[in-house]
Amino acid sequence: MPGCKTASSGPLSQVASAEDAAQIARGYDTLVNANYVGCGVPLEVMKRAVQATTIIPPAIAGTFFPLAAEKVFKPSIIPGRNQDNAGIVPSFNVFVTSRGVKAVNFSCLSCHGEAIDGRYIIGLGNRSRDFTQDVRAFTNLLPAMVQTDKERQELAVFQKSMNAIAPYMQTKTVGVNPAINLTYALFAFRSPDDLKWQDSQIMDPPNREFPPVRVPAWWLLRDKKVMFYSAEFSKHHNRIMTLAAGLCMDDGESIKALDAPFRDVEAYIRALPSPKFPLPTNPDLVHAGQAVYGRACAGCHGAAKPDGTIEYVKTIIPISDIGTDRWLMVQQTGAVHQRFRAWGEKAFLKMYHEGMSVDLHQGYIAPPLAGVWATAPYFHNGSVPSLEAVLNSKIRPKYWRKLGVVEGTDYDTQHAAVKFSQESHGQAQTLPLLKRYVYDTTLDGYGNQGHTYGDQLSDQDRQAVMEFVKTL
Ligand code: HEC
Ligand code: HEC
Repeated sequence: MPGCKTASSGPLSQVASAEDAAQIARGYDTLVNANYVGCGVPLEVMKRAVQATTIIPPAIAGTFFPLAAEKVFKPSIIPGRNQDNAGIVPSFNVFVTSRGVKAVNFSCLSCHGEAIDGRYIIGLGNRSRDFTQDVRAFTNLLPAMVQTDKERQELAVFQKSMNAIAPYMQTKTVGVNPAINLTYALFAFRSPDDLKWQDSQIMDPPNREFPPVRVPAWWLLRDKKVMFYSAEFSKHHNRIMTLAAGLCMDDGESIKALDAPFRDVEAYIRALPSPKFPLPTNPDLVHAGQAVYGRACAGCHGAAKPDGTIEYVKTIIPISDIGTDRWLMVQQTGAVHQRFRAWGEKAFLKMYHEGMSVDLHQGYIAPPLAGVWATAPYFHNGSVPSLEAVLNSKIRPKYWRKLGVVEGTDYDTQHAAVKFSQESHGQAQTLPLLKRYVYDTTLDGYGNQGHTYGDQLSDQDRQAVMEFVKTL
């Protein structure tokens, strides 16, 4: 099955039937080749822009040219890419727009793909993307690269949407994600009646300050079934995804046309297996750790069966118990969410004659721990850089900085951690250009408190339970 076997994710889990297998293959093809954004930077314009920026050293390019710094045009490291996409990194898809222009725009994998030690893992949440800068610093340079009227027209569509949402997608730290706010910002410009883009906002936009999130791993959905840290979506997620992705889909019809292809994408995501821990583990320690897990963790993260696999049951932990940063929970159960949910309800009913089915919870879901060795930094806001610190709140760094991001050596697989240095100062005391590299847990939404369930463990038990969860 082309495209469904990647170097990193291993074979797909036992697929029930040939029909399912075909659907999953179609879903993967859509994901890595299709147009689900609606517009883009004309490919030739992008090539000229990248050409113009390759002479700039990466550290500076990262600041001023966040797109170009990725070295966009490279032979594809994922399988199943079509001819247009064979020469571009997974973060982008190349496609022909409704205006007949070959264009490039972000793919789902720009947030839902990441490498560990050079091994690219589809579905692993991106932990290094820089959303701290105003993207207009880059996009405003693009008109200078235009050569034809068609290019100019396509770029104008892209810029109109980007200019509209740019103020609502700036984070304070590299590696955390603005996707929820970005989705709200898009809703604010579209009529829920026909999804037509309006030149001004039809309702209050989201706040410019918003709770940051770490991108969750896609393979969790197989067990979890419900979407998001706040577990609010339990039905099919294809529709909410197409609404969120269609940056500049012309109208409701083009979004509706994605309904079926995105059911296939959903099938692909739901079948994605977790990546196995690639290093040897100590069998005695794993065995001891399974017992500790049974006592201290199983009640929330799922019971361990005798063969060491987990029987996961969805468990939502009230905020008063889990105690991790509250802001996301507050937002997702409060006025901001309500405003955009009302919009979504209306749009869903108009488009599909079916409601959205949203459940509000005053807490966070205890996620399955499958493949958790790969998903540092931890918690919904990515505030804790290592597995050990998740299980010992006393050693969590108040200020920390990721190491090895530019070199691609930022992950410490053995310790299930990102490489980091403890910093003595928060963002307020840091030089402007370096601020964004500091994870400052004193900022609103960036707190690293809570989940103190591992604090009482002896060092030995903690090491053992860590060894066990690495095998999941
Ligand atoms: C700008 C970054 C970004 C892009 C692009 C993006 N996502 Fe996401 N995605 C996120 C974040 C962040 C979350 C977590 C939001 C939350 O939990 O509240 C998420 C959550 C999800 C989830 C739920 C996962 C779970 O376990 O709850 C699915 C499924 C998903 N995205 C699919 C997609 C698809 C399909 C696309 C492409 C059409 C896409 N995403 C594009 C950032 C992104
Ligand atoms: C009372 C319920 C509860 C118990 C007990 C519990 N956890 Fe958790 N755990 C959670 C919740 C809820 C989260 C998500 C918190 C958030 O994102 O804000 C979480 C998050 C985690 C994470 C981070 C996952 C990620 O990808 O961000 C790890 C790792 C983890 N727990 C491991 C453990 C281990 C190991 C134990 C046993 C020593 C344990 N937990 C005990 C509820 C619990």
